[in-house]
Amino acid sequence: MSEEKVLIFDTTLRDGEQSPGASLSIAEKLEIAQQLAVLGVDIIEAGFPVSSPAQFEATKLVAERVEGPVIAGLARASEGDIAAAGKAIAPAKKQRIHTFIATSPIHMKHKLKRKPAEVLKMAVQAVKCAKGFVDDVEFSPEDACRSEMSFLIEVLAAVIEAGATTLNIPDTVGYVLPYEYGRMIAQLKSDVPGTDKCIISTHCHNDLGMAVANSLAGVRNGARQVECTVNGLGERAGNAALEEVVMGIRTRPDFFATQSTGGLSTNIKTKEIYRTSQLVSQLTGFVIQPNKAVVGTNAFAHEAGVHVDGVLKERTTYEIMTPESIGLGGSRMVLGRHTGRHGFVDRCAQLGFKLSEQEIEHAYQRFLEIADKKKEVFDEDLAAIINEEIHVVEQIYELEYLHVASGTGTLPTASVKIRTKDETHQAAACGDGPVDAAYEAIREATGLSPKLENYTIRALTGGKEALGEATVKISDDGRKFIGRGISTDIIEASAKAYVDAINRMVSAQNQGEGPGVKVEL
Ligand code: KIV
Ligand code: ZN
Repeated sequence: MSEEKVLIFDTTLRDGEQSPGASLSIAEKLEIAQQLAVLGVDIIEAGFPVSSPAQFEATKLVAERVEGPVIAGLARASEGDIAAAGKAIAPAKKQRIHTFIATSPIHMKHKLKRKPAEVLKMAVQAVKCAKGFVDDVEFSPEDACRSEMSFLIEVLAAVIEAGATTLNIPDTVGYVLPYEYGRMIAQLKSDVPGTDKCIISTHCHNDLGMAVANSLAGVRNGARQVECTVNGLGERAGNAALEEVVMGIRTRPDFFATQSTGGLSTNIKTKEIYRTSQLVSQLTGFVIQPNKAVVGTNAFAHEAGVHVDGVLKERTTYEIMTPESIGLGGSRMVLGRHTGRHGFVDRCAQLGFKLSEQEIEHAYQRFLEIADKKKEVFDEDLAAIINEEIHVVEQIYELEYLHVASGTGTLPTASVKIRTKDETHQAAACGDGPVDAAYEAIREATGLSPKLENYTIRALTGGKEALGEATVKISDDGRKFIGRGISTDIIEASAKAYVDAINRMVSAQNQGEGPGVKVEL
C-alpha cells in the first residue's frame, strides 16, 4: 500500500492577514511567499485581489516571482471578483481561483439576503466563470458547518458538475467539534456525486481551540488538502496552525494509516518550519506565545527535574518530536568579541541565513558593536541582528542622538537629533514615561504624528546583558506599519523601533501604496 499526500494550502497571506492588527506591505508578503515556497507548501493563497489595489498588486507580484507552489486568488461568487483574481494570478505558472459563497441559513438570510435557490445558481455561475480563466477551481460553501446537509450536498454536487476541482469545507466560525467535523467530511465524500474526481479540503477556524483537531479529523476521514496558516494566524482566534497540522501528520503516521492507504505525508520540509514561523512573527508583529505547540520557545524546553533527568537518559521519554526536525539547531553556540569574521559567517550559514556580501559586512559590523556591550552573543541575538539587516528599509529618518532623563519624582524628558538626507532636526519633549517622552520628541523632530497602535518589548535571551527587542505598530490613514529595534538599552531599542516604523510608513507612501481598504467577506 502506498502513502498518500495531504496537500498544504497556506492562507497566511489572505486569511492570516485578516487578523485584527496584521498588515503586511507588498514587499513583506513577497518575502513570506518566497519562504513558503522554500517550506514546500503546495498552494499559496496570495490574497483577495478585488478587495484593494494593494491586495491585487501583492497577489500579482507573488504570482510573478514565486515558483513552485500553485498561486491562488480568492474571489466572491461574482464576475468582478473572479476577473480580478484571474488577472492577478495570471503570471503564475500554476494558477487557482478560489471562489466562495455562504450556504448557511443564517448567512443567506442576514448577510446575502438571498434565497437558497439563488445561492445555488450563483455558486454554479461562479465556478463556470472561474473555469473561463483557469482549470484549477476551488469552491467553498462559506459557513458550511452551520449549513443544512441536504442543501450543502446539492450545492457541492452542482459545482462539481460545473467544473470545481477542489471542494473546501469551511468551519468559518470555529463552531464544530472534531467528531462532528470528521463525520461531515466522511458523509460529503460518500454522498456528493463526483467527489472521487475532486479533492476535499478542510478550512477550520479556532474559536473553540479546535482548528487543528478538526482539520486532522477531516484528514482522517478523507480530506486530502488542509487550509492553514503559519503560527495559526487568522480572523478572531485564527486558523489551523500549519506547523501543528504538519507535525501531527508526521508524528502519528500510525493514526492515519487505514485499510486503503499505507499512511499519509505532506510535502513540507519540516526543517524550514521554525524559520518560517519566526519570519511571519517578525513581519506581522504577532509575538508567539512561549508555550505554543511546535514553535513556542518552551516547546522543547524541559524544566522539571524528573523530565530533565528522563530526557538526558533517553530523549524519547519526554520528547515526541526533535527540535532538529523543525529546524532548531541542536547545539547552542555562543559567539563573542573575539569571534572573527569567519566564525561569524560560519554560524550564520549554520543557522540557515543566506546573505549577500554586503549584508554580511553590515551584519558583522553590527555584531561587533553588540559584542562590545554584551559578552556573549547567542543564536537568538544573531538572528535578530541579521533580520534587522535583511529587513532594512530606506533610512529617510535616522536616529543620530538620544538622551532621556527619568526617575522617581521627576518629569521624564527626552531630546533627540534626527538626520534626514539634507539636514538634522532637533527636538525635546516630556512624556508620561521615558519611552513616551522619546516618541514625543521624535514626532516633533520629524513633524509626523502617526497613531501608536501597539508597543512591546522583550528580552531576546536571559541574563542582565540580554538584547532588548522593541516592536511598535503605528497607523496612518488606515494602513499599519511595524517597526523593530534592538539594543542592549531598551529605551534606545524603543526609539529605533519607532523611527523604523516611521521610515516604513513614509517609504510606502512614497511608493504610492494606498490605504489598506478591506472589503468585508
Ligand atoms: O472562513 C471562511 O469561510 C473563509 C472562506 C473565504 C473560505 O475564509
Ligand atoms: Zn477562513
